[in-house]
Amino acid sequence: MELGLKDKVAIVTGSGRGIGAVTARALAEEGAKVVITDIDPQTTEATCAALEADGHDAIGVVCDVTDMALVETMVARAVAAFGGVHILVNNAGFPRDNYITRMPEQDWDSVVGVILKGAYNCSRAVVPHFMAQNWGRVINISSRAYLGNPGQTNYAAAKAGILGFTRALGMEQGRFNVTVNAIAPGFIATEMIESLPNYDRIRTRALAMNTVPRLGTERDIANGVLFLASEAASYISGETLHITGGRYG
Ligand SMILES: NC(=O)c1ccc[n+]([C@@H]2O[C@H](COP(=O)([O-])OP(=O)(O)OC[C@H]3O[C@@H](n4cnc5c(N)ncnc54)[C@H](O)[C@@H]3O)[C@@H](O)[C@H]2O)c1
Repeated sequence: MELGLKDKVAIVTGSGRGIGAVTARALAEEGAKVVITDIDPQTTEATCAALEADGHDAIGVVCDVTDMALVETMVARAVAAFGGVHILVNNAGFPRDNYITRMPEQDWDSVVGVILKGAYNCSRAVVPHFMAQNWGRVINISSRAYLGNPGQTNYAAAKAGILGFTRALGMEQGRFNVTVNAIAPGFIATEMIESLPNYDRIRTRALAMNTVPRLGTERDIANGVLFLASEAASYISGETLHITGGRYG
């Protein structure tokens, strides 16, 4: 299937490592020019350098998505380097799990901030470019956890909130030929997940609840992004694509 991504400019937030890095590489392999942007300078540089070494068009921009001024600078650098921007993947995010009685206010604010304010800031900065060119794609990385998990009131609230954001922004942007969709990954074996203290327990539970009998990979999510960014998905907006190996509960 021809995806139509050649020479499109894609910003993938949190793309220094994990799902974001694999997604950026998948887009680059389809001919897109990619902006590697992450709060971590080392992974930003390393991931960008690896893409360039393989002959892809990439720039690396260190950026905290919760800081609007930094986000505006990051988008301006993308436009200066590649002449525009067509695809935004709001991927930066992390959990800070605890039961609510033990959850510090800071862990509520940081999780909700990176997921929701980060998506707002980045969308706010790119949407004028999308409107002007009458084409754009916003793809928000939610989580199956939007359904709720004990110990994740902050993460579940933010990942559910991003689905409302997806539908509302899609309604605003449809007439500009801009689609806005979300992906809800299940258990994807990334560094972030493997570093969780309860990794073994959630891994066993995920394997037991998946209908597809394996753990998810970063590439499973990247494949969903490629589809939603492509011309093949031009009549899909406001949707949530569950990539969970068949797990819903
Ligand atoms: N791994 C999973 O099983 C899973 C499941 C569902 C959803 N997700 C979501 O997928 C996304 C990627 O997760 P991952 O597993 O690849 O995690 P990861 O920790 O490997 O990658 C997240 C990246 O985001 C960056 N980041 C953190 N805060 C940032 C900020 N303020 N500004 C810019 N970048 C920032 C980190 O430095 C990191 O490189 C997250 O939104 C996560 O919630 C992951």
